[in-house]
Amino acid sequence: MSRDRVVATRRLPGDALEGLGREVELTVWPERGVPPRAWMRSEVAAADALLCLLTDSVSRDLMEGSPRLRVISTVSVGVDHIDLAEATRRGIPVGHTPGVLTETTADLTFGLLLAAARCIGEGDRFVRAGQWTAERVWEPDMLLGVDVHGATLGVVGLGAIGRAVARRALGFGMRVLGWNRTPRAVAGVEVVHFDDLVSRSDLLSVHVALCEETRGLIDAAVIARMRPGAVLVNTARGGIVDELALAEALSRGQLAAAGLDVFEHEPLPADHPLLTLPNALVTPHIGSASHATRGRMVELAIANLRAGLARRRLPHCANSEVYEAELAGT
Ligand code: DGY
Repeated sequence: MSRDRVVATRRLPGDALEGLGREVELTVWPERGVPPRAWMRSEVAAADALLCLLTDSVSRDLMEGSPRLRVISTVSVGVDHIDLAEATRRGIPVGHTPGVLTETTADLTFGLLLAAARCIGEGDRFVRAGQWTAERVWEPDMLLGVDVHGATLGVVGLGAIGRAVARRALGFGMRVLGWNRTPRAVAGVEVVHFDDLVSRSDLLSVHVALCEETRGLIDAAVIARMRPGAVLVNTARGGIVDELALAEALSRGQLAAAGLDVFEHEPLPADHPLLTLPNALVTPHIGSASHATRGRMVELAIANLRAGLARRRLPHCANSEVYEAELAGT
């Protein structure tokens, strides 16, 4: 009996791929970075399963050229890089990794929030640049930031990560406001309309998935309505925040600071206006980047992939309608 063919778009931490390679015919993109499109097309064409990352676009035409594909498994919770509707139409379940990265991403969010509000990145650069001299050993107006304790945090999106950030904020003595596309009650969080969230928050943290309804949600008009001196944090997805409008607001001092882990184009282009601003703190999409969490994400992605190959329901399926459609067809 011929073995299933699996394509993995990257080597992964740990030995999970080795184990998989003993069960299936496994092809792994051997280099760093995103595989070229031509490689993807030719390798995925004969594949039964695809194991991918959030950087790999799994588009309609890729699926069209891969008639055997019966499961797509991404090592991410976000699935905006995959044409979900097309996968569903083709009866292909898409596995993802919710849950396991919630707390780790909330930790990073809170780190960025504190660091942006309290000028921690600027302070580090100040010391390293040799600017911390005897003349400037302690000045009353040096690197003044925004207090986090006692401030009002607005959480945009009350999914698992948004709620985990809210819990941390309550521990810091913050008042927490929240908004969700489908209203939901969360202990300790005052759920408000989106406009109120924007105008009442001293710090605003973004936690919605990127989709048609959320693309450009935090646009120039929304940024203009934020409180003078507010702080914006985004660890969800680029494309939700208008980065040029944000850079403008930061450079005018309308906003005090921003902490950003995700960008519309990754990697962030070297000439991006945000990189000229001392009050923009940027990190390279590391929300889930702890040893333990990345290990759990890989485990879950492999479990999804194995289930799909065995034609079992995926433990975490991003398009569970695919099963309803199957049932309706039987
Ligand atoms: C995800 O899994 O979607 C995250 O962005 C990775 O940190």
